[in-house]
Amino acid sequence: MAPLKTVAALLLGAVASVEGAQDWDHSLFTTSPPVYPSPNMTGVDAAGLAGWSAALEKAEAFLAKLTLEEKVVFTTGAPGPCVGNIAPIPRVGFKGLCLQDGPLSIRQATYASVFPAGLSTAASWDRELMHLRGKYLGEEFRGKGSQIYLGPVAGPLGRSALAGRNWEGFSPDPYLTGVAMEETIIGVQSTGVQAVAKHWIAYEQETQRNPEGTFDADTIPSVDQVQSVSSNVEDRTMHELYVWPFANAVRAGVSSVMSAYQRINGSYAGQNSKTLNGILKTELGFEGYVMSDWMGTHGGVASVEAGLDQTMPGAWNWEPHFDDVPSWYGGNLTTAVQNGTVAESRLDDMVKRVLTPYFLLGQDEGFPGVDPSSGIYPANNNFEPESDWYDLWSSAGALNSESNVDVRANHSKLIRELGAAGMVLIKNNGALPLSKPKDIAVLGNAAGDVENGLFYRDVNYAPGVLPVGGGSGTGRFENVVAPLEAIKARAKADGTHVQYILNNTRLITSGGIGQMIAPQPEACLVFVKAWASEGADRESLELDQNGNEVVENVAQNCSNTIVITNSGGQNVIPWHSHPNVTAILLAHFPGEEFGNSVVDILYGDVNPSGRLPYTLAEKESDYYFANITSSVSNPNDTNAWQSDFTERLLIDYRHFDYYNLSVPYEFGFGLSYTNYSLSDSITIKPVSNSSSLAGVPAPSNAPGGNPAIWEEVYKVTATVKNTGAVTGKAVPQLYIQLPASAGEGTPVKQLRSFDKVELTPGEEKTVTFTLTRRDLSIWDVVSQEWSVPTGTFGVHVGLSSRDIKAKSSFTI
Ligand code: BGC
Repeated sequence: MAPLKTVAALLLGAVASVEGAQDWDHSLFTTSPPVYPSPNMTGVDAAGLAGWSAALEKAEAFLAKLTLEEKVVFTTGAPGPCVGNIAPIPRVGFKGLCLQDGPLSIRQATYASVFPAGLSTAASWDRELMHLRGKYLGEEFRGKGSQIYLGPVAGPLGRSALAGRNWEGFSPDPYLTGVAMEETIIGVQSTGVQAVAKHWIAYEQETQRNPEGTFDADTIPSVDQVQSVSSNVEDRTMHELYVWPFANAVRAGVSSVMSAYQRINGSYAGQNSKTLNGILKTELGFEGYVMSDWMGTHGGVASVEAGLDQTMPGAWNWEPHFDDVPSWYGGNLTTAVQNGTVAESRLDDMVKRVLTPYFLLGQDEGFPGVDPSSGIYPANNNFEPESDWYDLWSSAGALNSESNVDVRANHSKLIRELGAAGMVLIKNNGALPLSKPKDIAVLGNAAGDVENGLFYRDVNYAPGVLPVGGGSGTGRFENVVAPLEAIKARAKADGTHVQYILNNTRLITSGGIGQMIAPQPEACLVFVKAWASEGADRESLELDQNGNEVVENVAQNCSNTIVITNSGGQNVIPWHSHPNVTAILLAHFPGEEFGNSVVDILYGDVNPSGRLPYTLAEKESDYYFANITSSVSNPNDTNAWQSDFTERLLIDYRHFDYYNLSVPYEFGFGLSYTNYSLSDSITIKPVSNSSSLAGVPAPSNAPGGNPAIWEEVYKVTATVKNTGAVTGKAVPQLYIQLPASAGEGTPVKQLRSFDKVELTPGEEKTVTFTLTRRDLSIWDVVSQEWSVPTGTFGVHVGLSSRDIKAKSSFTI
């Protein structure tokens, strides 16, 4: 007979946390356990946002006024001015809801800002800037009349370096992503705009994210179509990596969570009762509503019962009457309630979940009307007065009479600052900062302006700068400052001669540089790039348009070659140790002020303070986990697309550390124009209530999970000092090494706290890291709770994941 622990784990569709952690039995992960019924919300406050109970009362009073058909309106997307819409109901004075992408901008709108991508935001390791970005995004959404911001992104987390949308999210480290989620959500919602944490969950690749032929609202997929990829994840990994940052989001009081497209352990994310009813609504105590991703609903009653509350975009060509909606919900849901298939109490909960954040954030009062320049999906720039929906929205007073409202305020200042803060300097042989050089060359096709217009939607932008990537997470720019433009402006003030070649083909032609550039510049600044977009995974980690060849060719001709990469994540940079490559700056996707941000760093007006939010390995094959499921042997097998998360917890630095592999640039690494030291002694103090930590806490529930896991249990202090000559910002990082009892396959160490501190030359500051119970726990698949293992906990404080300056420990 199998040991009890193993039997329980098998029943949970999981593996035990300790035994056999490295074996993978695919058959254990092809089904997802049923969890029913869908829990009702009860109005419990989130730590990050109070007032749910009073808002729920308002929602209940409002619900009491609605007919059955009107209730269904709140669950079913409808045509309207925005990318997603809940129709107005003038009879009860409801003006509708306007949902807009996306994570870094109000995507389709005119006169809006385009902020640095999530990736750049994570690379800043700066909580304050994360928060401010969220707040300003919220202000812009509000100004355009959009109640709902479709962001931020914690899925994809970044399991594969190739995933097309990693840059929309933050970092493959769940702790860093969790912090960024929480800061963004609190910032956005402080403006009275709802945030939507997406995409729930284990959405780690674009390839086959949707079933065959269903990215079309009128088609209801049938079982004989080829289904989407199934992310097959075991329970501990699910919690410690993928659920982790969403728990921060729920604790921050996020209004909504968007379900993902793909399947999870065999069952579609939008109707997976284990992840929706079970993990999200029960374990994390989520009180808001789950909306589907666009055309990601693949069942009516099944999804309602599994915990989906709203289907988006509802229907494509919708007649302005909810009974006629050709959607899984709409008229079909009305019928299902009328004939008793779905209990009206379930529908009531769906509506309350949608309405409570609306009242909580005061959206029933004084919210601006929708700006006609917000665009109709996919990219139309103006309302079409003949549209079916127009009369309804207009008669409800939901539209703004003014078009092209400028919502940018002074946000370009933050964009410039955060853009620079998210750039990571990984090599500098004294080449930077530039100091009034006499002659420089700007080379490479990422330095110049774009040719394909300012809406970076789905075009591989060649030539030209890439301030962001493509897909629904992109933005329509009012202004892009290209690097060459900003460098020229700076050079003019400095009296520097600037030569440039932007054509990569010319740059890789032998003799191309030698003949064209004279005199020999003091520095060659090479701008190379790599595009990434929703809808397609990256084909490789190489730079686009011969970027690596460009760098190698320039380096052969220029002994002071400074490379600036512009990309949505990891790249292979085989030239990094070339002696003529004197500096490397990873610029990521910094948003509309790109040129100004990069000039600030290159010239030392801003001291680089970004740190890698991922690991940069030597070769593509070093990222063994980078290979997503990109093909199947039998394309006609409807269930062929399977992605087994066999690496479990070992993604990014967890992989390289576990197998003791060397990497050129590790997670958390980044240079500055000064130097920092950390005292080699650190102090560790238990917080008073930390006496009986071992094991699982007493059961309790609140948004974000058991409140006990959020209790602060240890404080660690360290001293950081600026030992160089200029002011800068250090990023001290704390990693926890769990005791051996955490089991085989447990990462060697994991980020569990960090800070960012500004220091003048010679200045010293004490940094306090706070550790919560969750920070010391593993997910126990048997008790289905976070559990503190017993033994010795290593505390590693350093300036990167591999530059550990002080080590200590405590025992539980
Ligand atoms: C994306 C979502 C986005 C939605 C609306 C989907 O394709 O996956 O992230 O919010 O479209 O544009």
